[in-house]
Amino acid sequence: MKITKAVIPAAGLGTRILPATKAMPKEMLPIVDKPAIQYIVEEAVAAGITDILIITNRGKGVIEDHFDRSHGLEDALKKGNKTDLLESIEHIHKLANIHYIRQIETKGLGHAVSRAKTFIGNDPFAVLYGDDVIIGDIPATKELIDAYGTYGKGVLGIKAVSEEAIKKYSSLKVENISGNIFKCTDMVEKPQTKEEMFSLYSILGRVVLPPEIFDILEHTKPGAGGEIQLTDAMAELARTCGMTAVDFSGKRYDMGNKLGILQANIEVGLKHKEVADGLREYIKELAKTL
Ligand code: UTP
Repeated sequence: MKITKAVIPAAGLGTRILPATKAMPKEMLPIVDKPAIQYIVEEAVAAGITDILIITNRGKGVIEDHFDRSHGLEDALKKGNKTDLLESIEHIHKLANIHYIRQIETKGLGHAVSRAKTFIGNDPFAVLYGDDVIIGDIPATKELIDAYGTYGKGVLGIKAVSEEAIKKYSSLKVENISGNIFKCTDMVEKPQTKEEMFSLYSILGRVVLPPEIFDILEHTKPGAGGEIQLTDAMAELARTCGMTAVDFSGKRYDMGNKLGILQANIEVGLKHKEVADGLREYIKELAKTL
């Protein structure tokens, strides 16, 4: 079955990067010259996704504006013969059919995803977390969709992380099947002790889920941090039906924390045709003073 629908939860409060996120959604923070959420939508489209539901809330209207047409700006660029810039902004509103729904209360990632039930209907779908940008030659979402096609079960995008980091993420009970593919039979959100940790493999920003997840989310109780955790619902799915996990090949940047934003800007900047040379020279000079 072809997977063509995706959900991007973008209704979090972004408290870890205040005050930047007081009036600006973290999903709109730029990596060099594009907001994080545009990289995410482009990844989804490159993986064959045609319809995207972005979960927003109050104050996130600027996300809708970004994916809308801007006639005034287009006219000004046309008049000024700025063809490259014109193409770069026209490309944005042509990417996909983008829909929006508000999460009225910020009750957690699981609650945000449950808002997508009517949009998704009875098909498997991808979830791309709105603050995780993954850059790589193969779109991470495509690697997950391919694994769904091969194994027929929900798929998790995973990476091994440090023991310190896993306390803030999730820990998975996994068994290698072959290469970068694993079988996952259980998981826990934000484990605080070694005994609670299954492994140092964590879900980082991408999953492909069967529609059965919505029935599970309906009875998922608030978990870590008092929020309805998507991980808790996926843990039930993993225990009952089993899931597949893919150690995806791209590099993931956490746009939900300050260091992640700086790392993304430096690494993407070092490959950006306009600024790479200048940035490399600047970093070399700066490094001498550190
Ligand atoms: P996070 O937990 O990283 O987002 O959720 P947050 O709540 O904004 O983070 P803090 O406040 O800095 O700790 C991961 C993704 O899920 C979305 C967020 O927007 C982010 O893209 N999310 C989270 C929702 O859509 N709704 C929620 O209730 C929580």
